[in-house]
Amino acid sequence: MRAVTVRGSDFRCYERVAVELPPGLVGVVGPNGAGKTALIEMIHFGCLGYSPRTTSEAQVVRFGAELLRVETDVAVSGGPVSVEIGYRPGEPKRITVNGAAERSVERLLGRFPVLVFTPDRLRLVQGAPALRRAYFDRVLARLWPAPAAASAEYARRLSQRNHLLRRVRAGRAEPGALDPWDRLLAEAGEQLIAARARLCTRLAGPFAGRLGALGGDPGEDPLRYRPNVEPGRSLEAALIERRGRDIERAVTGAGPHLDDVLLFEHDRDLRLYGSQGEQRRALLGLILAEADLLSEERDEPPLLLLDDVTGELDGERRRLLLEAVAGFDQAIVTTTDQADLGGAHASVLTVSGGRVAA
Ligand SMILES: Nc1ncnc2c1ncn2[C@@H]1O[C@H](COP(=O)(O)OP(=O)(O)O)[C@@H](O)[C@H]1O
Ligand SMILES: [Mg+2]
Repeated sequence: MRAVTVRGSDFRCYERVAVELPPGLVGVVGPNGAGKTALIEMIHFGCLGYSPRTTSEAQVVRFGAELLRVETDVAVSGGPVSVEIGYRPGEPKRITVNGAAERSVERLLGRFPVLVFTPDRLRLVQGAPALRRAYFDRVLARLWPAPAAASAEYARRLSQRNHLLRRVRAGRAEPGALDPWDRLLAEAGEQLIAARARLCTRLAGPFAGRLGALGGDPGEDPLRYRPNVEPGRSLEAALIERRGRDIERAVTGAGPHLDDVLLFEHDRDLRLYGSQGEQRRALLGLILAEADLLSEERDEPPLLLLDDVTGELDGERRRLLLEAVAGFDQAIVTTTDQADLGGAHASVLTVSGGRVAA
């Protein structure tokens, strides 16, 4: 996939902008504060309907404006597609795809393979397990929507069981009332565990390959799924076994809402022991591995958006990175210094003060 043009109004620092995006490697170059990240964010928002940077989306509307619009023309394997998104904070987004209304933002995720690296996403490597679970479940949703639906179903049933645990603790329900809930929760949970296990198995090879190609030393097993309850073990049995403690604490203490996925280089858990550079590399390796899997499943490489990815790399690692992204239909890379794109054959867009020039 690639983006062909993006037109935006009142998005971050852009009052009105129209950008033609060439295929291949595209450098977005400009000084700090010029609007490079905002351009990456606008392309992402224009294709997928949400910002990769913030969950307080009202922030993306230009100061003083009431609503924003982004229109993106993309080329996907099925042909050209136009996506239009209008957003006024507090209201549902208005989305059309080739002129037809699309009510669900989530559906865009399945249609448009767009992957993004931003330094904010380092939290994925550095942060709490919940961030990694959310990331892997989103990857699942994009690759295999049916098994991925287990994640939402599990979350719903989990909150219902927790609610019931509180009632039992308060003496307003009998412990036996938990029987059907344990079974329902276990059923969705086991599907989710199986889907995550399968995803990690499929990602492990590409992740190791990408880490190595980026100059890392992946060792045996760089991606390690750590399920709270092993695949194949009965989650229902685990729930029944802990029922007494769960009632006391009024929370469910076993299940995939407590899973983690660890990222390793050799025998080092990168979350705890990785240098900043190694953590960035792991994030990039993970995104490229996701790209490999997506390419395989869809027969088309995704669009890559890479914000500030070259900055802290030495010359050799920068070369490896540019080599790694060279095989994509389009990779849009921001940098303050055009020299960071080295000898790579790149088209350059220059950004300053909310304007973009070819
Ligand atoms: N909602 C907004 N309205 C107007 N300007 C904004 C908004 N959000 C951020 N900005 C400004 O946009 C400018 C460009 O930011 P950014 O794209 O992050 O720069 P950079 O080129 O360093 O990546 C900054 O000056 C920032 O303060
Ligand atoms: Mg930036």
